[in-house]
Amino acid sequence: EVDGLQFAVADLELAEYGRRQIRLAEHEMPGLMAIRAEYAATRPLAGARVAGSLHMTVQTAVLIETLAALGAEVRWVSCNIFSTQDEAAAAVVVGPDGTPDKPTGSAVFAWKGETLEEYWWCTRRLFDFGDGQGPDLLVDDGGDATLLVHLGAEYETAGRVPEPAAGDHEEHRLILRTLAESMAEDDRRFTRIAAGIRGVSEETTNGVARLYKLAREGRLLFPAINVNDSVTKSKFDNKYGIRHSLLDGLNRATDVMLGGKLAVVCGYGDVGKGAAEALRGQGARVAVTEVDPINALQAAMSGFPVVRLEEVVATADVFVTATGGTGAVRADHLAAMKHNAIVGNVGHFDTEIDLAGLAAVPGVVKTEIKPQVHEWMFPDGHAVLVLSEGRLFNLGNATGHPSFVMSASFANQVLAQIELYTRRDQYTEDVHRLPKHLDEKVARLHLDALDVHLTELTAEQAEYLGVPVEGPYKADHYRY
Ligand code: NAI
Repeated sequence: EVDGLQFAVADLELAEYGRRQIRLAEHEMPGLMAIRAEYAATRPLAGARVAGSLHMTVQTAVLIETLAALGAEVRWVSCNIFSTQDEAAAAVVVGPDGTPDKPTGSAVFAWKGETLEEYWWCTRRLFDFGDGQGPDLLVDDGGDATLLVHLGAEYETAGRVPEPAAGDHEEHRLILRTLAESMAEDDRRFTRIAAGIRGVSEETTNGVARLYKLAREGRLLFPAINVNDSVTKSKFDNKYGIRHSLLDGLNRATDVMLGGKLAVVCGYGDVGKGAAEALRGQGARVAVTEVDPINALQAAMSGFPVVRLEEVVATADVFVTATGGTGAVRADHLAAMKHNAIVGNVGHFDTEIDLAGLAAVPGVVKTEIKPQVHEWMFPDGHAVLVLSEGRLFNLGNATGHPSFVMSASFANQVLAQIELYTRRDQYTEDVHRLPKHLDEKVARLHLDALDVHLTELTAEQAEYLGVPVEGPYKADHYRY
């Protein structure tokens, strides 16, 4: 803590390196910068305490500083133990006008390579704005911060730890331990914190799934905005973002030649589509696994063979999971792969590849090739290479999606935060999406940078289509 600013980052001296990257990122994030300019005078988040749990990258630094420019007091953690860019974290703490000796930015608790205990220690810091104050708003990615508040409040009400659901794993058990500790310290803390939260805006598919589950079960304690399903988020970040950062992660991790290799993408949703396209672009032969007949048919009609993993497990060179589910690649699959097959996950949680099962194989030996790249050698002498310990390798082995696409995602985040803060009474304790005119606005903010010349409807054409000349142009059920 320096002059009341709390933080826990790797090294504040990295701030200048972070600041230079932030400066370049700002130029590539026209949506965020336009929103900054639009609201500079009115500062709609003035007085808002915003707590964010989202990969602490350079792009996120631009998001944080946008929220701060709109008046918010911000506290931030990463939503993944490997995804922090230490220079970005340092730059946010130091702030645009501060120095490492006199940091004047925002409170960040994040560093690359946290342990799970440290991760949850950081996440708890989100809820401590001083003087017993919790946040007014949450920005979440994957729902860990939201889950912590809910489990905590339920624990305080019911007097017991909620039962872990099927499929819950190590992280859940750690949350529960954290809860128990916090209960010992300060009775009914999360109940109070939850009551003060005006809402959460959630970034990703998995987090949104958690929110809908909480809402279905009548457990959601505050309104939520599903940012992921803004068209300008999931149809861009998930797809075009991964098309870029998947290769970045693979290359930095292994630098293996992809042309001619056989790659398998598990899950052909938005992320899987971008992953498959990226690998095909490198000249890899790409096969897809799917459980949903619609997505499977999409893959087939895009020219990707749709297979069961068993059919390719012994011949494929690269395996990428993007299912958002659990157990897509089992330990017996890993054992059946060819020597030095590369296995990585880009789904949100580390449940997609059964690494616990791999670790339990008798005689298996794990060797660190370099941070976030591990060789797992089987007793018969063949090995598989696992990236980022089964966590999002586009963030663990590289730096995540590039600025331009994150500008669209984060513009949605900022608009959602403004909605929740200034129009709380319009939102029930349910999961909402931003209205389509805001989705179109986010897209519009990114057109000039790409020299897009939009055609304008004439009044007659608009009337024929039954839409306003200025939009929105599509019904809510339109799928893009
Ligand atoms: P999605 O729901 O559009 O796609 C997932 C697909 O996987 C679905 O089509 C589903 O039918 C299929 N699937 C489910 N279980 C399967 C299994 N066992 N085998 C084969 N296919 C299976 O979800 P989306 O948006 O593509 O997200 C996928 C994951 O990626 C989520 O965890 C999400 O949070 C995460 N994500 C990661 C990003 C990154 O930067 N790495 C960016 C955005 C999202």
